[in-house]
Amino acid sequence: MTELFTRAFADDPYPAYAALRRDAPVHRTTLPSGVDAWLVSRYEDARSALADPRLSKNPDTHSRAAHAAGKVGIPGERSSGLITHLLNIDPPDHTRLRRLVSRAFTPRRVAAFEPRVQALADGLLDAFAARGSADLIHEYAFPLPIYAICDLLGVPGEDQEQLRDWAGQMIRHGARAPRGGVARAVKRIRGYLAELIHRKRSDLGDDLISGLIRASDHGEHLTESEAAAMAFILLFAGFETTVNLIGNGTRALLDPVHGAQRAAFEKSVADGDAAAQTAAVEELLRFDGPVEMATWRFAREDLVLGGPGGPGGPRIAAGEPVLVVLAAADRDGARFADPDLLDLARADNPHLGFGHGIHYCLGAPLARLEGRVALAALFRRLPDLELSADPSELRWRGGLIMRGLRDLPVSFAPLS
Ligand code: HEM
Repeated sequence: MTELFTRAFADDPYPAYAALRRDAPVHRTTLPSGVDAWLVSRYEDARSALADPRLSKNPDTHSRAAHAAGKVGIPGERSSGLITHLLNIDPPDHTRLRRLVSRAFTPRRVAAFEPRVQALADGLLDAFAARGSADLIHEYAFPLPIYAICDLLGVPGEDQEQLRDWAGQMIRHGARAPRGGVARAVKRIRGYLAELIHRKRSDLGDDLISGLIRASDHGEHLTESEAAAMAFILLFAGFETTVNLIGNGTRALLDPVHGAQRAAFEKSVADGDAAAQTAAVEELLRFDGPVEMATWRFAREDLVLGGPGGPGGPRIAAGEPVLVVLAAADRDGARFADPDLLDLARADNPHLGFGHGIHYCLGAPLARLEGRVALAALFRRLPDLELSADPSELRWRGGLIMRGLRDLPVSFAPLS
């Protein structure tokens, strides 16, 4: 079996995932943190595990101590009082909180946000367009989602640099170690959000946090700590993921082996063909998505995973962690024709990049919008864009849940 979690694996995990799908589709492994967990890698198994009520999202199903130590879940979320968020809870609490936030985070609100995302993308591009070179992670993919989510939540402009700083600390420390840096950043963000929610209560606006407060006033109550946890998870889930969509997507399009796909994307941009750009974003999510493994799940009881009619997998004991490997499932040849091929016009593409079931990504419409606008602006505005490094030399962060680049150096013809 190919070794997991090495540097070579971080650079290209797909051969190891092919081996897992073939030889050990439900595989027990020891994670770099020392925690033992089961990896689910085949598409059908992954899809059913994501919606399996026998798998809980509550970290206490596993071990409160492991959670407190930041070995499962988001480091610092327990000590910061941020654990009652959507990714850590099961029905009926999940149903109630998801309904509440869905009332505030509507597709209409997201669609109305497009001009703002466009202006953000253009503003960031303006800052380096005359230079002829840039690091697209630090100067483009990273700032765009954090400013977007801050705007949406209603973080005042003068506080956004501070949030950007803390978010940077979360990402910088987000790889396997050290966990303490993430926990510190989470604590600061928590303090800030609690204070912001408090302020908004007496001065409601048109933003998402005000929408949450309003929604909670309509019969269903949202406690102060639930509101803070909700704002936090929107920020946390909506930030690094989108950085990686823009980063991984740009890398894939700039890789010379994908020249024809890049030409097709550029044509869709020149033609203003939003449908083709939307399909392209879906394929980039499947091909090299931002979320390598879905967030933590834990067996509520002794159970066996695996599709009906299969040979039956190994027995998973109550309390054991299960990680659904989205990146492996989305390259499964049993579901996708030519799974290792980037095909922006792929018609049959029910990828799992946004998950599946009751925890399906709440921010998917916003993520799709940001991905489409950011990639289209980049390829429309920067002529002769190319990587300044060999694609194989680019460095990946090597985190467990997320898959993303540390940097993405590019050059292009400077704009005067
Ligand atoms: C959940 C992916 C962007 C908010 C999820 C899940 C995935 C995912 C895979 C399910 C996790 C699981 O079942 O364990 C992505 C990707 C994104 C993205 C690939 C970008 C390309 C966003 C954005 C927001 C957001 C922009 C909000 C502003 C959430 C929330 C959940 C979630 C709140 C939890 C939903 C629940 O548990 O009910 N996302 N996400 N995501 N995402 Fe996203």
